[in-house]
Amino acid sequence: MKIALGVGGGIAAYKAAELARLLMERGHQVETILTSAAQQFIQPLTFAALTGRKVITGLFTSGGSDDVLSSAIEHIRVAQENDLLLVAPATADLLGKFAAGLAPDFLTTTYLAFPGPVVLAPAMNTNMWEHAATQANVSTLRERGNWIVPPGSGLLACGMVGPGRLADPAEIALAVEGALHPSRDLAAETVLITAGPTQEPLDPVRYLTNRSSGKMGYALAEAAQARGARVLLVSGPVNLPVPPGVEMTRVRTARQMRDAVMELLGQATMIVKAAAVADFHLEAVPEHKVKKNPGRFHLELSATPDILAEVGARRGAHQMLIGFAAETQDLVREARRKMETKNCDMVVGNLVGSEGTGFDSDENAVVLVTRNGEEISVPAAPKRGIAHRIFDEALRLRTAFPTAP
Ligand code: CTP
Repeated sequence: MKIALGVGGGIAAYKAAELARLLMERGHQVETILTSAAQQFIQPLTFAALTGRKVITGLFTSGGSDDVLSSAIEHIRVAQENDLLLVAPATADLLGKFAAGLAPDFLTTTYLAFPGPVVLAPAMNTNMWEHAATQANVSTLRERGNWIVPPGSGLLACGMVGPGRLADPAEIALAVEGALHPSRDLAAETVLITAGPTQEPLDPVRYLTNRSSGKMGYALAEAAQARGARVLLVSGPVNLPVPPGVEMTRVRTARQMRDAVMELLGQATMIVKAAAVADFHLEAVPEHKVKKNPGRFHLELSATPDILAEVGARRGAHQMLIGFAAETQDLVREARRKMETKNCDMVVGNLVGSEGTGFDSDENAVVLVTRNGEEISVPAAPKRGIAHRIFDEALRLRTAFPTAP
């Protein structure tokens, strides 16, 4: 496919070069437009070399043409010839101009003239991102149907820590694929997803929990939402933005998660249990902080409700159930055991404890075991890609082998 890549003037402009390379690797043709601010950060030559094409650097110098007339309508050509417009990094200034329909330069005129899908990957300082003006512009653009790839959190070039960092180029490339091939194959589904850890209080200041960032569950919610599903997300405490359009229930403990799931269960046609539920809790939580004591401290813990097992026992014939198994060894055997004992249609086995996958990572490698005996290895990929694969396989399984709880 043909992609017009607009690059705004921010420190993250250099990452757009990596993005151009990734898109080329996926077989796309890339035509780059650099704003004049972007040219302060990165040279046109970098993109020309990576994409093998001339880079557009201005409204009246586009394409390097001497012909004034053809140069004046060049933005119309770019808008008509490309299948998708991607802007990365999209600065606060560009978002404002896109939202307001201002067109002082090549990129903004192309945006207005562009009839196809638009993907915007913002990057800026945290305060600028969180400012009401920027957030209002982002809402306007989202409502208009533009795809927004939200910035990640971390240490920014300005020294602040918070949201504002350009999303990972691999994640942006995935959003591009999603926008190029919008699939509504989950439009008939209501997907109930659990995500994140639970916290089991020990006293007012301490709790027991599991290692879990919630990223896999949130990626599942985003993927299902993008494919047209109604998404009910029950989430333990995590530090992630709520995917737009998703119906969110926030919980803290396993008991609260169980109650929320049981309340919503009747509405769901697919249930995906990605949460890392704590297996133990303290029944009588002291009202006041337990003071430190020299010597030993004993805790007597009881089991929390096994939500997946209860859903497995209660679900109806039309409700597809997908569980997770985070294991440090015997992955396939354990995943299969959990699938059988908890009456699932599929279990996503995740080897944890290895570098680069699981827990806080953006990537994951999983194995899917299914009710009809299949074992599908999914190599390491961004969690959003894994999420799509899980839904692909779930739909295939449902068609090939109708649910029989
Ligand atoms: N799960 C659940 N309720 C619990 C514990 C786990 O619903 N109290 C779900 C998880 O959301 C996940 C699946 O069960 O989908 C497997 O979780 P895991 O912690 O791997 O397994 P356990 O059932 O706790 O089994 P074990 O301790 O034997 O590994």
